[in-house]
Amino acid sequence: MKVRKAVIPAAGLGTRFLPVTKSVPKELLPILDRPMLQYVVEEAAEAGIGEVIIVTARGKESIAAYFQPAPALEQRLSGSGAAGLQEKVRHASSLADVSFVIQEEPLGLGHAVLQAKNAVGGEPFAVILPDDIIAHSPGALTQMLEVAGRLDAGVVAVEAVPMELVPNYGVVAATPREERVHQVHRMVEKPPVEEAPSNLAVVGRYILPPEVFDCLERTTPGAKDEIQLTDGMSLLLEEQDLYAYEFLGTRYDGGNPLGLLRASLEFALAQDETREAVKALVKNLPL
Ligand code: UTP
Repeated sequence: MKVRKAVIPAAGLGTRFLPVTKSVPKELLPILDRPMLQYVVEEAAEAGIGEVIIVTARGKESIAAYFQPAPALEQRLSGSGAAGLQEKVRHASSLADVSFVIQEEPLGLGHAVLQAKNAVGGEPFAVILPDDIIAHSPGALTQMLEVAGRLDAGVVAVEAVPMELVPNYGVVAATPREERVHQVHRMVEKPPVEEAPSNLAVVGRYILPPEVFDCLERTTPGAKDEIQLTDGMSLLLEEQDLYAYEFLGTRYDGGNPLGLLRASLEFALAQDETREAVKALVKNLPL
């Protein structure tokens, strides 16, 4: 299974980050010096995916601007001897062939993915949520593509979460097949603890066949009156095998301020240039 395209939904309202998301898209909020969106485009590029389709919304034009080349800025940086910064600026706009489709209204993740139907065409594709940041080398998507290729089927990333957190996630009912790989029988969006079929929570990485678009077109609004990707995948399960993969790596929930703060601290601790300064900063906190 060759996957050449990734869809990144970035048209949501970002209400958990209000008021900043009144004018700054959540997906451009940074972990250190790079927006969350760049981390996931880099993960796609590392996985050999050369085409990225970002689903965006009116009012979030700064997302497209971020991926445009900035020759005047680059020239100024090279003139002032800031070659390192110039390279960072250039790198951000040369990661992949990035295009955009608009979701006119935030009608849910499934609806957002459906907006990319024409851009994807009839081939398997990846979906990456830019507020689920996964730190690992190789990246989660690279790991998943290996599984999808070997089993010739769709793959969804899952993480075992504490049972009391299960109502916040889509959850799978699945049978273990091999190390870290489970065959999915059923998917439930945000179940109450007593109805949850497992504690394997779906997180923001998917490898999907193109047939999922027809399933999404047949999906009626579910939880929160939104078209849920999980519901579309439930229809897909009636026709095709689907596997859940427990990825290697640490996931950060960049969809809320504390999750983003945790990611920022841990990323800074992982980098040689910032580690000692962050240790000192944390040690001196007035706790
Ligand atoms: P989230 O539910 O985390 O994002 O969706 P949100 O809706 O923007 O955040 P809150 O809940 O209001 O705080 C995961 C991803 O799916 C995109 C979001 O932009 C985010 O990247 N999304 C969500 C869409 O593109 N369209 C939608 O209708 C919903």
